[in-house]
Amino acid sequence: MKTNIVKINKLEAVDANIIQAAKIIRSGGLVAFPTETVYGLGANGLDAKAAAGIYAAKGRPSDNPLILHVCDFAMLADLVVEIPETAKKIITAFCPGPITMILKHKAVVPSAITGGLDTVGIRMPDDDIARALIRLAGVPIAAPSANTSGRPSPTTAAAVLADLNGKIDMLIDGGASTFGVESTIVDCTGLLPTVLRPGAITMEMLTEVLGEVALDPALVGADVVPKAPGMKYRHYAPKAPLVVIKGNCTKLVDRFLAEIKDAALQKKQIGLIVSAELAKKLPTDCETFIYGSQTDLSAIAASLYEGLRSFDDKKVDVLFAEATSEIGLGLAIMNRLNKASGFNTITA
Ligand code: TXA
Ligand code: MG
Repeated sequence: MKTNIVKINKLEAVDANIIQAAKIIRSGGLVAFPTETVYGLGANGLDAKAAAGIYAAKGRPSDNPLILHVCDFAMLADLVVEIPETAKKIITAFCPGPITMILKHKAVVPSAITGGLDTVGIRMPDDDIARALIRLAGVPIAAPSANTSGRPSPTTAAAVLADLNGKIDMLIDGGASTFGVESTIVDCTGLLPTVLRPGAITMEMLTEVLGEVALDPALVGADVVPKAPGMKYRHYAPKAPLVVIKGNCTKLVDRFLAEIKDAALQKKQIGLIVSAELAKKLPTDCETFIYGSQTDLSAIAASLYEGLRSFDDKKVDVLFAEATSEIGLGLAIMNRLNKASGFNTITA
């Protein structure tokens, strides 16, 4: 299959590319498109056969359900049995935006999408291109992140192509994603709203609107099966093994310097994924990706996956990443780093 790549710099009121993309979706094809979190790999969310195409293109395990993207409240209401109070508050405060609600679904949602669960994830993206595409398609769009299963999510069209060129009908290039980490997932079906995947809508923001909010125990490293099936896999992983180093100031610098020295002795090529502040204190001859300033978590989130992917075509044997704070957006960043490393963390 040849992937048709189109670039949209400024969305027109009637955009020929979006019209074509919507036609592909309606006829059961696959379109990768930008959202404010990461790029999605879209198909008609009411068509079981189209959904099967997503699993095939990504090499995704079939027990990992897809989330549905809607453009408005009416489309959402058609899919779910009820909208609990928690979901109503989330919709008012955060939709459209980088958040996915887990809700009980109606029979229209095929079990090929939900992996047979009685719940479905629903997200109303804020990105103009995503919204126009869903509106024109006239159906909810099932869309996981547009990467090969297990790899870092794509935040640019080039990253989508690196994984899926020739496996999808169309790719809409809308520039780099704003947030760079996938949406916050909140299970709204229980007594207490529960975060299954942290994201740009932070625990602090949710607590302010919802009161008490739980965190899925699987997220804090406990030996429990996560409630979001996809969170159980090693994920977001670069090709080289990754080690995360935590710690403060001089201890952190010393530990990085020790690892660099050790690698040189073993003739191993290493890559570093670090803050601008730490990079200044490390040798300049190491392959280094600077993810931003320690004081700007948004910038770190936005560049993290590009950073992980940037080492794929370099000869590195092992990657070392500097941990961030776990406050606010830091919780999402550290969740992705922990999963990318398979929880391989050193405390300096
Ligand atoms: O930001 C995002 O959410 C992006 C963009 C494209 O919208 N999408 C995304 O989809 O990250 P995906 O498939 O890569 O991640 C969705 C996660 C998976 O871990 C999946 O297991 C979980 O949501 N999930 C889906 N349906 C679920 C359900 N009914 N209950 C619990 N978890 C669910
Ligand atoms: Mg994904």
